[in-house]
Amino acid sequence: MDFSITQLREFAKSSSWDNAPVSDQDKELPAPPIFPACPDNAVLIPLPSPEDCRTAGKDFLRIVKERKSNRAYSSQPMPLAVLSYLLYCTQGYKCMRPQSTVAALRTVPSAGARHPLDTYLAVLNVEGLAPGLYRYQPLEHQLWLIQAGDSTLPDAVVKACNKQLFAGKSAVTFFWAADMYRCEWRYTTHAYKLVLLDVGHICENLYLACEEVGCGCCAIAAYNQQEADSLFSLNGDNNFVVYVAPVGTL
Ligand SMILES: Cc1cc2nc3c(=O)[nH]c(=O)nc-3n(C[C@H](O)[C@H](O)[C@H](O)COP(=O)(O)O)c2cc1C
Repeated sequence: MDFSITQLREFAKSSSWDNAPVSDQDKELPAPPIFPACPDNAVLIPLPSPEDCRTAGKDFLRIVKERKSNRAYSSQPMPLAVLSYLLYCTQGYKCMRPQSTVAALRTVPSAGARHPLDTYLAVLNVEGLAPGLYRYQPLEHQLWLIQAGDSTLPDAVVKACNKQLFAGKSAVTFFWAADMYRCEWRYTTHAYKLVLLDVGHICENLYLACEEVGCGCCAIAAYNQQEADSLFSLNGDNNFVVYVAPVGTL
């Protein structure tokens, strides 16, 4: 990496908002789409309602206290309603932001309601869902089947997770990818920090939701950038993985 420690520390701070470059939003350039588009011939799989998921009814304090990183999963498949619940809790669409056609509200906060992250899934063991690579489509609460999986998929997931073997035993591994321009359009040079803050909220909701439905997950920042991006054919330029979390039943 070509940055000095001083530069990297500056990145972590709140840099001056007064000196930020004029944004494309200020220049009145069109807003990028707020939801990812699928190819015309995409295979789309509707998900059950998140309300269909059987939850434990734990009180919130208990959920917060019992949340922990889980790296050992049972071989029990994850019910599809559970996956639906986890996706809704982490990136579910609620409504458009009042008086806006370019910002949506979801189940997590996001700077300026830009929601610049997309959820990609490597599904290994989910009941009623073929193993494969998918992307969550929040507006329709559907999955786009990007590519069916074969017996090599668990190894590909482990490789993308920088050889962290427990990922290969997950029921599903979440990969959150930044679509940078969605945030840059409004926030220019601030966007890079904001995207990373946004994804932290998403992953914490995953931890808490897992606790409620008898699953376990573990955040992974030490993933392999190239392998993770190429698993989902992301260009690695303005669209790349920033955080990963394997999930399994306990
Ligand atoms: C930003 C971040 C990155 C992490 N990356 C990894 C990782 O690459 N591999 C791993 O096994 N755990 C990872 N973890 C999990 C931490 O090791 C774990 O949260 C920590 O040990 C505290 O345990 P707890 O989550 O059970 O409270 C990460 C956690 C966070 C928040």
